[in-house]
Amino acid sequence: MKQIFPKDLITTQEWDKPALDVVIQLAERFRTERLAGILHNNLLPARTLYSIFYNPSTRTRTSFMSAMTQLGGETHTLNPSGLQESIGEVIKDTAGVLSRYGDAISVRYCFTKEAYGDGNKVLRTYAKESSVPVINMECDTYHPCQVLADWQTIKQRFGENLKGKKITISWAYGKYIRPVAVPQSLVLMMSRLGMDVTLAHPEGFDLDQKIIRQAETNTTLADGSFEIVNDMDEGFKDAHVVYPKNWGPLAAMPDMAKAAEMQEPFKHWKATVKRMKLTRPNGIYMHCLPVDRGLEVEDKVIDGPQSAVMDQAENRLHVQKALLTLLINNRG
Ligand code: CP
Repeated sequence: MKQIFPKDLITTQEWDKPALDVVIQLAERFRTERLAGILHNNLLPARTLYSIFYNPSTRTRTSFMSAMTQLGGETHTLNPSGLQESIGEVIKDTAGVLSRYGDAISVRYCFTKEAYGDGNKVLRTYAKESSVPVINMECDTYHPCQVLADWQTIKQRFGENLKGKKITISWAYGKYIRPVAVPQSLVLMMSRLGMDVTLAHPEGFDLDQKIIRQAETNTTLADGSFEIVNDMDEGFKDAHVVYPKNWGPLAAMPDMAKAAEMQEPFKHWKATVKRMKLTRPNGIYMHCLPVDRGLEVEDKVIDGPQSAVMDQAENRLHVQKALLTLLINNRG
């Protein structure tokens, strides 16, 4: 059988669409079968995932742990401060050794306090030096597991064919300055689904221009549309999906004081009940979480009927079960 899955998942952009379709189909099957009480613990029995977190996490950490448990395997969550890497061992040696003991490695390295791109380099080093699959649990450039769960969520609400559906990925003011990984992965993934993608942000909060060019190419190939606006209301107007969240201005990063100063004039960039009325009657509010309640979004929106945030969080489990199964079991 032709091997359609690459060894690693660093960004969805490096996977063919048919392989991504299989992930989403299997994730949805896992979701519905779990509702029926069907177990999946015969899929990865006695398999081990090493999960390395250089940054905090709630959803990613626990959903990967639950995923491996439900598949019959186990997760060892490794804190870098407890590894020899913290006193000088190189990633090549860590990755090589873990590859001899385990069946997959997942890594989060999404610091905003380092030069943009350094996090992605760490992920790519793990992938190069590991003989087992490496899954990106968010670097400073991409968050592939999140956007696959987001795609599953949008599909649950709007069906298989997302052509002509408008999604607006918008900047929002927040106390904690977040990486650009989620908005960048969103514009890349949603543009491949033929959606009408709007990116809304204040001037100065542009995403990586290389990613924007890739999204434009994706849009042409999938026959969708892509626009960038500097007005949150314009972005929300007639949207089927709005995804407002904070990210730091790449022009200032990693200078956090400068980044904080740059976002001060834009406190009004918030998902409000009033703004949600601009969306379609069946429009939904999405956020990957964690969220700064009261700053990025009003409680009445995130806790209201248009909110899909808990479905998004749940779908992380199903998508990662699918990824782990396919990557570990389908290695030729
Ligand atoms: N969405 C997400 O990645 O959440 P965590 O940072 O809690 O893992």
